[in-house]
Amino acid sequence: MRKWRRRTGHICQSVCCSENVNLIVLGDYKALSCAGADWFEEGIREKPDAAIVPATGDTPMGLYRELAERHSRGLIDTSQLCIFQLDAYLGLAQDDRRSLFGWMHRVFIEPLGIAESNVVRLAGDVLDPWEACRVYEAAVRAAGGFDLSVLGLGPNGHLGFNEPPSPPDAPTRIVDLTPESIVSNARYWGGEEHVPRHALTCGMDLLLAARRTLLVVSGTHKHEILHRAIEGPQTPAVPASYLQSASHVTVLADQAAWQGR
Ligand code: PGA
Repeated sequence: MRKWRRRTGHICQSVCCSENVNLIVLGDYKALSCAGADWFEEGIREKPDAAIVPATGDTPMGLYRELAERHSRGLIDTSQLCIFQLDAYLGLAQDDRRSLFGWMHRVFIEPLGIAESNVVRLAGDVLDPWEACRVYEAAVRAAGGFDLSVLGLGPNGHLGFNEPPSPPDAPTRIVDLTPESIVSNARYWGGEEHVPRHALTCGMDLLLAARRTLLVVSGTHKHEILHRAIEGPQTPAVPASYLQSASHVTVLADQAAWQGR
């Protein structure tokens, strides 16, 4: 899993923040996306039937486009991958364009040619969403946990929709969105007033147990929360700070996020 770093150009800085967290600072978003695709490609080469949880959000989109391009050129084999949905808005149908399942489908499942039978939903639109959380947890455990986890960093330090405060053992569950998440998601909903107030999220417990985690962070607006997440105290107030004690965590940040300018 070290090879991908040698192939990646444009590394500005590589810092071991802790025993488990390796931070790589890239010049810009394009370089970050290519480095993320290299990380992913190396991971699925090592384990072609990897269990993977890919975040939605803006930051990993360049990475997914890069992967789709490699897939279309026949460079990566996705036929055996098993993909798990990270989070979902409560009560929103999966075929609604704004659903996180639909988003994951458009940017990841379809372009990478993943079979429907290899996709595990976190269903927010069922009669008993708590039961859906339990079914999801059981499916992750049956897969032996996540091999690869690709995450973005919320403006409030959330991972998935593990909103602050979230302790490291927080299970898969229904959560109330914080005002910061509502503001940050308003762009997808045509205004804050339209953003759902509740969501389902894969738990911290499952995410922190992933064998390898990639956290992608881009833009000056993430500067402060990035430093709090990887250098600050581990606290439920910044759920991403618990990645400091997860195993094999790679943080890819562009210079804007790392330097704040
Ligand atoms: P972003 O979202 O990638 O759109 O910044 C990250 C998140 O809120 O988890």
